Amino acid sequence: MKFQDNTFIVTGGASGLGEATVRELHGAGARVVIADLNAERGEALASELNENGSGERAAFQRTDVTREDDAQAAVDLAVSHFGGLQGLINCAGIGDPAKVLGRQGPQPLATFSRVVQINLIGTFNMIRLATAAMAEGEPQADGERGVIVNTASVAAYDGQIGQAGYAASKGGIVSMTLPVARELARHGIRVMTIAPGLFMTPLMETLPEEVQQSLAESIPFPHRLGRPDEFARLACQIVDNAMMNGETIRLDGALRMAPR
Ligand SMILES: NC(=O)c1ccc[n+]([C@@H]2O[C@H](COP(=O)([O-])OP(=O)(O)OC[C@H]3O[C@@H](n4cnc5c(N)ncnc54)[C@H](O)[C@@H]3O)[C@@H](O)[C@H]2O)c1
Repeated sequence: MKFQDNTFIVTGGASGLGEATVRELHGAGARVVIADLNAERGEALASELNENGSGERAAFQRTDVTREDDAQAAVDLAVSHFGGLQGLINCAGIGDPAKVLGRQGPQPLATFSRVVQINLIGTFNMIRLATAAMAEGEPQADGERGVIVNTASVAAYDGQIGQAGYAASKGGIVSMTLPVARELARHGIRVMTIAPGLFMTPLMETLPEEVQQSLAESIPFPHRLGRPDEFARLACQIVDNAMMNGETIRLDGALRMAPR
C-alpha cells in the first residue's frame, strides 16, 4: 500500500509508539487521522504537522476506542475530510499490572475487564468499523484496498507475574490476526500485528533511571530499550510490503521476559 494520497487512522496516535507512527506515515506522504483520548496532545501534533508546509494532511479526532460512536466518528472523519480510508494502525492501549491474588485479596474483576476492554475489544472495535470504510475504496496495486497493523506485546507470549489481564488482551490480538486476515482477504485488506518488547515511551520515561537501566540490560541485543521510531518504521514497512499478511512480528532485540 502506498502512502501518498492514502489515509491512515492511528489510534493512540498522541503519544509513544502511536505518535512516532503518525510522524513516520506523515513524513512518507500519507494523510493521518490521530484517534486518541488525549485531545491536548493529539490536537497539538496535528497542528504541528499541518504547519510544516506540505498541505493539510493531519487531523485529530478525540476517540475512546472502546466506544462504538467514537470509533465510527474517527472513520467518518477520514472519509469526509480525506475522501476515504486505506489504513488502520492500532496503538491505543494500557498496561495495568495486578496480581490474581494480591495483598488486598483477589484482583477486582473490573481491573481485568478494563485492560481487555481497551486493548482487545477496542482494537476489534476499530478493525470492524475501519474495514467497512476500506472495503468501499477503489482497489489499488494487487487489488489492495486496505492494511491493518495491530499492536500486541511480547507479553502475549511471555507475560510476567501481574500481567494476566495485559497478556490475555495482547494474546487475543495475536490470535485474531490470522482469522481476520483470512476473512478480509476477499476485500483486499491485509492484517498484521507487531509484538514490541521494551520501548522508550512516556510510559517508560516515568520509571526511575535504575529501573530503565535494568530493563535495558535484560535485552540481549541491542542492549538498550527500543526507540519509538523503530516501531514506526516496522509499521510502515508492513504498510509498504503487500506480502506481509496474517502474521505477528516480534520486535524485541531477542528479549524473552522472565517471570518477574
Ligand atoms: N512501550 C512499550 O515498551 C510497549 C511494549 C509492548 C507493547 N506496547 C503497546 O504499545 C501500545 C502503545 O504504547 P505506548 O508505550 O506508546 O503508550 P503511551 O501511553 O505512550 O500511548 C498510548 C496512547 O493510547 C491512548 N489511549 C489509551 N487508552 C485509550 C482509549 N481507550 N482510546 C483511545 N486512546 C487511548 C493514550 O491517550 C496514549 O496517547 C500499547 O498498546 C502498549 O500496550 C508498548
